[in-house]
Amino acid sequence: MPGPVDLRSDTVTRPTPPMRAEMAAAEVGDDVYGEDPTVNALEAEVAALFGHEAALFAPTGSMANQIAIQLLVPPGSELLCDADAHVVTYEVGAAAAYGGVSSRTWPPVGANVDPEQVAAMIRPDGYHAVPTRAIAVEQTHNRGGGGVVPLGTLRDLRRIADDAGVALHCDGARIWHAHVADGVPLTSYGELFDTLSVCLSKGLGAPAGSVVVGSAEQIARARVVRKRMGGGMRQAGVLAAAGRYALRHHIDRLAADHVRAARLADALAPFGVLAGPVRTNIVPLDLTKCGFDAPELGVAARDRGVLVSVLGPRIARLVTHYDLDDAGVDRAIEVLTEIFRR
Ligand SMILES: Cc1ncc(COP(=O)(O)O)c(C=O)c1O
Repeated sequence: MPGPVDLRSDTVTRPTPPMRAEMAAAEVGDDVYGEDPTVNALEAEVAALFGHEAALFAPTGSMANQIAIQLLVPPGSELLCDADAHVVTYEVGAAAAYGGVSSRTWPPVGANVDPEQVAAMIRPDGYHAVPTRAIAVEQTHNRGGGGVVPLGTLRDLRRIADDAGVALHCDGARIWHAHVADGVPLTSYGELFDTLSVCLSKGLGAPAGSVVVGSAEQIARARVVRKRMGGGMRQAGVLAAAGRYALRHHIDRLAADHVRAARLADALAPFGVLAGPVRTNIVPLDLTKCGFDAPELGVAARDRGVLVSVLGPRIARLVTHYDLDDAGVDRAIEVLTEIFRR
């Protein structure tokens, strides 16, 4: 009996046999002493991919984002981001709780960031208002349906950040998907941001791990922040080996996930349930015009062996990933179209 077709997230993948073999064979040491050769190699490789000086392995994407935010935004000053950004939606208030950071948001626009709107929000230094210290951009945008922020928009944001003397952070959990979808080199993204956090466990399929990327000085400070947050790991090379494998073997194949997401979207479009265009591996659903809500869809699909992510009363999401093949997409289309036809 095959398992369910799991479209909840690209984090549900399991390490492949060759990835596990590299994990098992990884040379390790104590990374809190900086002595894990596999972690050190991963950090050097990721820094080079983005054209930055240094990088730091972190257990999760949330911790990687929060380390970067603490580097860029001192307590009592503010971070600007989209109201739907992961850093303010799904990180349980960490910027405020750990960094004393005030977050202010622009209305949720997913990947369609308006640089002039962001520029108008920046508050200068002074003793009265909360000074803006950094802007965070999510690439691709998770709640924005996997949308890709265009390179031109990012360049405009860089110019605006430079003019205002504030930093630019990229929550690049799925920056690989943007790179594959738009063909933008990772170094072109890297040169626009002061810091990036990139995930090895979403889409790329490592079991855990994210990387903070920045200057040597920033990463030296990041090491302290990571330790303070409880993220100093010991023989983490076992995990870093999975990440190194994923970087070598699992970036280009993301194109297949994008094609499968587009197939799902094409099949569901006639039912008027797509929340927006599908650019990468996320199919956002808006059920406001349906006879049922998102939790009902979740239950009906689960009962037929398809798992979907319910994000709100009327919002759901389907995500493609490497544990999903064409047969799984066919099955999901059959089940979902049958439900939407009711
Ligand atoms: C855009 C984005 N940033 C950050 C994260 C956080 O990653 P983690 O779950 O590893 O903390 C996620 C997780 O899904 C995400 O989608």
